[in-house]
Amino acid sequence: MSLKINSAGIKNFISVQDVKDMNALVQTALDYKSNPLKDKIAGANKRLGMLFLNPSMRTRLSTQVAAQNLGMEPIVFNIDKEGWALEFEEEAIMSGNTVEHVKDAAPILGKYFDILCIRTFPSLKNREDDYSELYIKQFIKYSGIPVVSMESATLHPLQSLTDIITITEHLATAPAKPPKIVLTWAPHVKALPQCVANSFAQWINAWGKADFVITHPEDYELDEMFTKGATITHDQDRALEDADFVYVKNWSTYNDYGKIYCNDPEWMLTNEKLHLTNNAKVMHCLPVRRNVELSDEVLDSTNSIVTQQAGNRVWAAQAVLSEILKG
Ligand code: CP
Repeated sequence: MSLKINSAGIKNFISVQDVKDMNALVQTALDYKSNPLKDKIAGANKRLGMLFLNPSMRTRLSTQVAAQNLGMEPIVFNIDKEGWALEFEEEAIMSGNTVEHVKDAAPILGKYFDILCIRTFPSLKNREDDYSELYIKQFIKYSGIPVVSMESATLHPLQSLTDIITITEHLATAPAKPPKIVLTWAPHVKALPQCVANSFAQWINAWGKADFVITHPEDYELDEMFTKGATITHDQDRALEDADFVYVKNWSTYNDYGKIYCNDPEWMLTNEKLHLTNNAKVMHCLPVRRNVELSDEVLDSTNSIVTQQAGNRVWAAQAVLSEILKG
């Protein structure tokens, strides 16, 4: 059941580099928001495989809704709980816990589905392994069908596209000057991946329409591959001055990989800090730890656009799937 891919569309959706025209993709998403069923037969008789190696609420449900809006049948497989343990290393001697090699499993999935979506998190133990994106690359190599990342070891492109859609909606009613967008680190009790922060930085830099500032404590530098072009500071108050959008997110350390060096509650975004901004809209990919990453007073205020942001996940996924279906 393999698709012919339109060279003008999207083939795989793993990072911003898979997108030829971001503005057009954002507009496609906003058109779907206005008219969700306008392409309700674009995916008729096509199946979307959705493989989860990790938990999800928003990505899973929004992508299912998006597929159904296009007439596709989404089938979810929680491979971590219900499938055989997969081996991803080439030439592995499979005498341990893994039962099936991805080079055997992925081509079969390519026969069952027209597009394959995958969620896989990093181990946060070995940076080189995580940043090689072996899991998603092996699915691309062996499935023979388009692959969409529902969050990988290093990036979360459906989330970042959503974030740009949400910012664009707010800019439609704002002055034309480039907005100041601040990505601020927040405390957390667990070591979390760098994916959302990496991806947000990659997409905002590629978008090129913002004064983009990243602020985090010392030792929380992200990979320059994603942040290059942003202003980076350890002074959160300074970063927040006159911000139009504040994106709050925790991540664990990149250099001394996967560690928590700081859990200073002073980094939590509060109303007091928000007063430094230009009445900024507050964003977070969710799920959020209330009163650890973000205070109740901010999350429950009219500055918070996290629900709108999560709602827009449907239109981002629908735009991406429709571009892939245009083959
Ligand atoms: N933001 C996000 O990806 O949410 P889920 O983990 O619930 O899918």
